This record gives sequence, structure tokens and C-alpha cells, in this order.
Amino acid sequence: MTRFAPAGPLRGALRPPPDKSVSHRAALLGAMAEGPTRVTGYLDSADTRATLRAVAAVGAEVREGEADEHGGLFVEIEGIGLRGPRPAEIDVANAGTLLRIMPGWLAGQADGRWVLDGDQSIRRRPVDRVAAPLALMGAEVECRDGRLPPLRIRGSPLRGIDYEMPVASAQVKSCLLLAGLLAEGGTSITEPLTTRDHTERMLAAMGASLRRDGQRLTISPAERLEAGDVPVPGDFSSAAFFLVAGLLVPGSELSLREVGINRNRIGLLSILSRMGVEMGGAHESGRALTVHEIREPGPEPIATLHVQSAALQGATVTAEDVPAAIDELPLVALLGSFAEGETVVEGAEELRAKESDRIAGIVEGLGGLGAEIEGRSDGFAVRGTRGLRGGRIDARGDHRLAMAGAIAGLASKEGVEVEGFDAVEVSYPLFERDLRGLFG
Ligand code: S3P
Repeated sequence: MTRFAPAGPLRGALRPPPDKSVSHRAALLGAMAEGPTRVTGYLDSADTRATLRAVAAVGAEVREGEADEHGGLFVEIEGIGLRGPRPAEIDVANAGTLLRIMPGWLAGQADGRWVLDGDQSIRRRPVDRVAAPLALMGAEVECRDGRLPPLRIRGSPLRGIDYEMPVASAQVKSCLLLAGLLAEGGTSITEPLTTRDHTERMLAAMGASLRRDGQRLTISPAERLEAGDVPVPGDFSSAAFFLVAGLLVPGSELSLREVGINRNRIGLLSILSRMGVEMGGAHESGRALTVHEIREPGPEPIATLHVQSAALQGATVTAEDVPAAIDELPLVALLGSFAEGETVVEGAEELRAKESDRIAGIVEGLGGLGAEIEGRSDGFAVRGTRGLRGGRIDARGDHRLAMAGAIAGLASKEGVEVEGFDAVEVSYPLFERDLRGLFG
């Protein structure tokens, strides 16, 4: 149990930890390439360590340097090539992204068997969303009860398909893109709503041939991927906890540096703007949230975000907003409880299939702290009371609920005890240190 007491203003500057999605992909695509891929600022966390072990298990050599103060590792991955992975049993631990993306690469091998399995929480997460389209491509994939891990794969020749994804999922899209590299003929994937495109950016930088036409993405088979250097941006989803803390704790003023601002990740910013947070560029003073120093040091753009505390009003988040803000929706509930009026999130049933059922977790969790929140099948509604009493919240083994609970504590009247706070290890082991460093 870790307690987060009501705090005075948060002040200072911080570089959030490296992006989790980009780190997973850098390790996987680095292993699929030929020659050494040098990753600077690889996230040192439980999830992304599972991916380093996974690529080592199939034969890639992983050389690890020292971690920097932001939890970024220098990692050099000696790729084994698109057709090089050797058979293995892979422990994905709690990493859903690894579990769902890696099968695309393995399923298209000429031969070999693989098993992907993980912890108790991962065993509840559906994998039929990748198994079904892979089977349409000719893959031999089996899962428990037809939908859950462990996932058993036997390499077999694949053919390209034209697939309409029933759910908007970057993990499913990425899995099929990797399978498409090994299939015969082109593979087209249509997403119902645009999801994060880190895989597409990295594949293009490694020489793969990809074409986007509206919501339809087509990838051509490839002989090889070219290794290269991958700089990992700061994780917007981790930075989001500080953005929200800065907005909610009166008198706060924070700078978040080198944050990835891929447009498919920063949906929280447009939600905040609808909640009344005034936004602007570098030279616009008096705004609560400003974006500075936009740069593109690699395939992903980064910037410094500057935030000050601000008053909020309720807003409605609909299905179109969901993919670019999917991991930040628990924070929208927290913001909503401090806003004036009602905040509603709809079209977000995917939240039930995350590291925990995040609709249940946030509704019961914030409800227990005094929020007026009600769950719905596809989201929640919060009636803003411009504050939160505090109390105790169960992280349910979910890193994002643990960190949301901590921020709730700082902004609450009585403080919050977070049960199972160590779940933060999954994406942000240094979260508490970084947060407490901003109290001055
Ligand atoms: C991720 C995609 C999203 C997101 C997850 C990371 C990724 O999941 O929630 O935290 O790295 O591709 P879905 O693809 O299931 O929406």
C-alpha cells in the first residue's frame, strides 16, 4: 500500500520515461532486421524487458548498456532476419503488445513451433483478435478456449488477405503488417478508426513498402528489413499523469520534455481543449497548456509540453476520440470529477480488455474516493463535484490505475492509499520518485 497525500503545487521539469509502444516495436523489428539495430532510450520496465527476453529466446543477440536517469537503456539488437527465428517458449509476462504483435512474425515462418504465454492477468486477455485473421492468411494458430493465451503457433506459408478489422487496435494491425511481410502477395488492412502508427513509421524507415489509402493500409512482402538507429521518444501516456496532476493541483507549473507527440497518441490534448483548457504554441502566453520545441529526431515527432493548473468543464468523449486517447481514459474520469458539469465517455468498450477491466476499475476506484461516477457497458459518466474526498483505491494489478490513483491522492482533500501500487513496474518503475521530485 502506498499513500499519496494532498500536495502543494507541483513545479519543475521532467523527461518522462521512454515510450512503451515504441520500445516493444524497436526490439521486435530490430530482431527481424539484418545487422545491428541501436536503440537509444529503450524503456527499462517489466513489459519491455519481456520483449528483450522474447527476441533473445528466438535467437537475436541483445547487448544492453547502462540505463540513463529517465529509465532509458542503450540496447543493441543483432537481428536474425525475417526468416531467422528459432522455435521457443516465450513468456510475455504482462505485456499484451508483445503477446499480440509477435505472432505475426512467427506464424509466417516456413517451419517451427512457438508458444506464447504469460501471467494470470494476460491469460484473461483475448488473442482471437489476432488468431482469426492470421488463420485467414493460412496460419496454424491455436488458443485456449478458442480465444485466450497460451497461443500456440506452427510456422506455415501465408497468403496476403484484404482484412477489415472489427475493432480499432494497433496491436492487431501491427501483427498483420508483420505477417504481411512474409505472405505471398499484398496484405491490406482496413481500420475502423486510425490507431497509433508506430509500426508503420518504423517499418518504412527499415525499407518496407507500405501504402495508406484512407483507412486502408497495404504492405508488400519483403526479403529483408534494414537495421538502423531508433531513438525512443518520451511516453505521452506516462507524461499524461503529470499533465493531469499539473492541471488539477492548484498553483502547479510543469514542463515535460521530449514527449512523443504522434498525432495518434495525443487525443487527450483535444479532450482537454474541450474541457476548457486553453492551448497554444510556444509564444502564446497565458495559456494553461503550450507545446514547444517540436522536433523530429527519428520517425516519431517530440516536443516539450508546458502545463499550469486550470479550471475544467465537463465534456463528451465519443468512439472517434477513443483510439488516440485509449490509455488516458482513466485520467479523463479523474479530470471529470474535478470539472464543472458532466463528463461522459462512450464507445470505449475496449477498456474492458486492457490490463484490467478499466471501466470497472475506474468506476469502483473513483467511486470509493467520493466521485459521482456511473459505469456503462461502453464507458462511464462522471458528475463533476470540483473535488475528491480521497480514501483507498485498488490498482487491480493495472499500472495505469495505480498511477491514476496516485494523482487522485495529490489532488484530493484527504489523500489516497493505492493498493497494489507496485503494478507501476510494468511501464514506469520510477514513477513515484519522479512525482515526489516535483513537490520541491
Ligand atoms: C498498444 C495499443 C493499444 C494500447 C496499448 C498499447 C500498442 O492497445 O492500449 O497500451 O503498443 O500497440 P490496442 O491495440 O489493443 O488498442
